[in-house]
Amino acid sequence: MRSLILNIHKRSWGSLAPVARKWIYAKTFKGEPTYENFRLEQEELPALKNGEFLAEAEYLSVDPYMRPYMMAYPEGTLMIGGQVGTVIDSKNPAFPTGSSIFGQFGWRTHTVCNPDELKADRPYVLPNFGSLPKSLALGVLGMPGNTAYFGLLEVCTPKAGETVAVSGAAGAVGSLVGQIAKIKGCRVVGIAGSDQKCQWLKGLGFDEVINYKTTPNIYVALKKAAPKGIDIYFDNVGGQTSEAVIKLMNLYGRVAVCGTISNYNSSIEKVTDPLRMMVFKQLKMEGFVVWRWNNRWMEGINANLQWIKEGKLKWHETVTDGFENTPAAFMDMMKGGNIGKAVVKL
Ligand SMILES: NC(=O)c1ccc[n+]([C@@H]2O[C@H](COP(=O)([O-])OP(=O)(O)OC[C@H]3O[C@@H](n4cnc5c(N)ncnc54)[C@H](OP(=O)(O)O)[C@@H]3O)[C@@H](O)[C@H]2O)c1
Repeated sequence: MRSLILNIHKRSWGSLAPVARKWIYAKTFKGEPTYENFRLEQEELPALKNGEFLAEAEYLSVDPYMRPYMMAYPEGTLMIGGQVGTVIDSKNPAFPTGSSIFGQFGWRTHTVCNPDELKADRPYVLPNFGSLPKSLALGVLGMPGNTAYFGLLEVCTPKAGETVAVSGAAGAVGSLVGQIAKIKGCRVVGIAGSDQKCQWLKGLGFDEVINYKTTPNIYVALKKAAPKGIDIYFDNVGGQTSEAVIKLMNLYGRVAVCGTISNYNSSIEKVTDPLRMMVFKQLKMEGFVVWRWNNRWMEGINANLQWIKEGKLKWHETVTDGFENTPAAFMDMMKGGNIGKAVVKL
């Protein structure tokens, strides 16, 4: 399919327009996502006008936010999401043919875009990652990396010697949060959903790890892992895990609420009201969305890139091959099938 499109493209499109494949949100999510929620379609693309470029996707991102965010869209909408691609034709000098870009183009193979017409979510040419794969622009050198960087450093203000707990610890964001906390001299306790993930986190330098799926009592396990209590909680999951962590917070502790994936599939866990703990422990709890730091985007990417170069920040990707497998990659990630960042390679 890819070579077919390129051949058509080389003939200056002529009478044959290039065709994009795209995944459509076919049926409103109810509980866990299933194949029924998605439909594959094709779209003929128009010839380029001045200011536009044509991008061919190389990697697509599958992220937890897609589950709650898509609920706001009607059935028949293109699945949202970021992608890394190559500009294969251009009438915009800022996006020359051959450049590697990041764009919020959704789950589609080809996109015609006029960046100057976009108010938000503007695509950008990737900075030089050296020999690192460009797919990292969807992970450690992109949105999840910046979520970890700004969320931890700006919301939690970690100090050396403090104890940091992070849930969803073996995922795209969590695995970076723990490592950045280690860079800042903290003691780190990670909570993740398999022994394999916990072992990997130990290898990254996490001081203690807890498999929340097999531990008989997460509160007891946490108390043992954090004998001096918890100063900072970076929360990716919510629910009962967060209830246990918050009970162990120290006076003036900080909680960054990054995500609540335990309830994204509408399965709300009953937990004790955390507000009582917030009063007695005088906690600060702050929700955040990473776009808050849009105007400092490259600062986060450059900081994480520098730490990678210094060998202080490790990344891992779970790569699914094939555009046709994008829904499967998304569903697998939502069930915990990924270590590090889940991406799809086209
Ligand atoms: N606020 C923001 O701006 C922002 C930006 C990016 C991401 N986020 C949030 O950050 C969190 C992590 O995102 P990510 O991109 O790094 O995803 P991720 O952690 O790479 O992947 C999702 C992981 O969630 C875990 N999970 C699934 N169901 C769970 C449940 N019921 N209870 C506990 N854990 C569960 C699984 O790991 P286990 O095997 O450990 O269960 C799975 O691997 C999500 O909540 C996401 O929405 C927020």
